[in-house]
Amino acid sequence: MSSRIAFVTGASRGIGRATALSLAAAGHTVILAARDQQKLDEVAGAIRSAGGAAHTVQIDLSSPESIQQAFAQAKEIGTVTILVNNAGITRDGLAMRMKPEDWSAVLNTNLTGAFLCIQQVLQGMMKERWGRIINIASVVGESGNAGQANYVASKAGLVGLTKSLAIELGSRNITVNAITPGFIETDMTAVLGEPIREKMLANIPLKRFGQPGEVAGAVKFLASDEAAYITGSVLRVNGGMYL
Ligand code: NAI
Repeated sequence: MSSRIAFVTGASRGIGRATALSLAAAGHTVILAARDQQKLDEVAGAIRSAGGAAHTVQIDLSSPESIQQAFAQAKEIGTVTILVNNAGITRDGLAMRMKPEDWSAVLNTNLTGAFLCIQQVLQGMMKERWGRIINIASVVGESGNAGQANYVASKAGLVGLTKSLAIELGSRNITVNAITPGFIETDMTAVLGEPIREKMLANIPLKRFGQPGEVAGAVKFLASDEAAYITGSVLRVNGGMYL
């Protein structure tokens, strides 16, 4: 198995944390990126205690300057050939009353932030003639969801971005795929009330919510040599909630 350098955004907790642990366990050197240095240090410590290799960089995906700086630091470590665009936020509300800043914050972080990260790694991947870009979208990017017009637009945008770049970068041996998680138990979903959770559960054929590690497993696979012939695909990790 080849050891590579993986850059994971939003690696301080939830799905990003689980992904970082999983890629490190697969033998990759992982660069953990998020805003909170203390939390990043905790994840890096967990990886190192398990015998893995981890570095941390602070990044604010809503800031193009911060993205540039974070990747300048990453380049000192080596060439990033696995990029996981995982960080994401919600600012829910009905469209009629949605504030323009809530629209922009979500689009900037979830979609523009991911695109700018991709731009940072392309040259290195092209030189290596090997690359894996994995975008964490969402089930609602395919199904739609009331009260989440901004979030859904950002996630549907990520799927469109994934497909376009898969075509654009295929000849360079860079694969680009999206994962669309369903309801995964993290801080993001912990805020949802019991009635919503019950309603969701009723629509999940596997009759349970997903765990961060179950998304991480899909990322690990798409990042591997075994997934070499998969590009432009959307892998649903949702317990069957949307087919
Ligand atoms: P979370 O809220 O637990 O973690 C999000 C991560 O993104 C955190 O590390 C946070 O620090 C980071 N982040 C947010 N804004 C950032 C910014 N401006 N700059 C840098 N880092 C930033 O969320 P969770 O649940 O782990 O979600 C991870 C991804 O999976 C997100 O893109 C989310 O939209 C997506 N997802 C989650 C689902 C779920 O049920 N939890 C379902 C479908 C998709």
